[in-house]
Amino acid sequence: MSKMKINGGRVLNGEIAIHGAKNSVLPVLAATLISNGVCEIHNCPRLSDVAAAVEILKYLGCRVWSEGSVITIDSSTASKNDIPDELMREMRSSISFLGAIIARMGSAKLSLPGGCELGARPIDLHLSALRRMGVSIEDKFGCIDCEVEGTLHGEHISLSFPSVGATENIMVVASAAKGTTVITNAAREPEISDLARFLNSCGAKISGYGEGTIVIEGVEKLHGTVHRVIPDRIEAATYMAAAAITGGNVRLTNISTHDLSPVIPVFEETGCGIITTDSTLLLKAPKRPHSVQLVRTMPHPGFPTDAQAIVMAITTIADGTSLFVENIFENRFKHTWELCRFGASIKTEGRIAVVEGVPELFGTQVNSTDLRGSAAIVVAGLAAEGTTIVSGLHHLDRGYEDFERGMCSLGADMKRID
Ligand code: UD1
Repeated sequence: MSKMKINGGRVLNGEIAIHGAKNSVLPVLAATLISNGVCEIHNCPRLSDVAAAVEILKYLGCRVWSEGSVITIDSSTASKNDIPDELMREMRSSISFLGAIIARMGSAKLSLPGGCELGARPIDLHLSALRRMGVSIEDKFGCIDCEVEGTLHGEHISLSFPSVGATENIMVVASAAKGTTVITNAAREPEISDLARFLNSCGAKISGYGEGTIVIEGVEKLHGTVHRVIPDRIEAATYMAAAAITGGNVRLTNISTHDLSPVIPVFEETGCGIITTDSTLLLKAPKRPHSVQLVRTMPHPGFPTDAQAIVMAITTIADGTSLFVENIFENRFKHTWELCRFGASIKTEGRIAVVEGVPELFGTQVNSTDLRGSAAIVVAGLAAEGTTIVSGLHHLDRGYEDFERGMCSLGADMKRID
């Protein structure tokens, strides 16, 4: 198992282009199934989760070609309706295949993704919506067996929480259902809009995406398309954090500044100066970050839970006390234990974390706890005095393409070692 060795204390400066969004490409790849044609997806990041999605598509019978950041899928040959347990476990977001397989095949058999490092992660909202749209579901011993009874039909679905995954699955199934589906309290994340744009370019009729109410008119047939995945706002926030904690100066290109609007004010509160155009962002960090009063994770357009750990890393060396409230996941503070190994002072109680800034961090041995937690400890390692060894890199590889190459291009001293 390789580890990451980071010699901290370098100031990060320079320019970096951001890759396509992991959380967009995965549901888009799954949804190519319902096109029943050839889809060419551009700006796909090279990540282990994307490789897992491609394996699932191939298992289902699709023909898939990858060249650079373009993945081409011919789903006309798809013939299977199940995903084996080992492929399901490769990637939690394999649940995004549920709606696509049902819509395409009329039935689906999947093992449940189960809990993960962030907590229980139930899929009750996905299942209750599918049941209402005409799917009978047997949920036994960790497996779900789904069968469309008669035809899929449109429904009014009001989500008790604006779940990203549930909104995505409903949009996909509703596109192939008879009649109109209305989702109220729908998730409004940029990745929802990206999936809706992809489906519309395949012939779907989806409106209202990006807002709390999404209307989907089912269509008889969809077709192949060419689609470009949006930039990854969390990868962008991670490079911003790396510059912010080291007192650096970075310019990000290939971003959507609009999608970063929930995180920009928090970086400004840490003392960073930020200048943007629609697709670029220039961040100039202060010598020492300032504390932030309150970071509350919320569904979009609130502060994203995926950026919580990364921003917390900055505040470990801030000149004051910062408060974090995690409202999305029940167990998303595991990185705090690892940050404390650097000498950070963090107390947690339930969904609240209080970070008292310390003058400096010290290199240490740390273990990745989850995808964004691992990014947070790398960010801390970049600022820490001395050497840090990070293990558990498989988490990082799920969500960051060429992470060390990107960081080193900005002046970081880090490399993988065996
Ligand atoms: C997606 C993102 C993830 C991000 C999250 C919130 C992908 C691949 N992953 O995850 O990076 O952190 O959105 O922005 O896009 N819930 C239920 N029942 C359900 C579904 C969800 O109780 O049926 C709960 C979850 O346990 C969690 C909360 O709702 O506490 C948010 O989950 P959801 O928005 O569904 O996140 P994901 O789609 O899993």
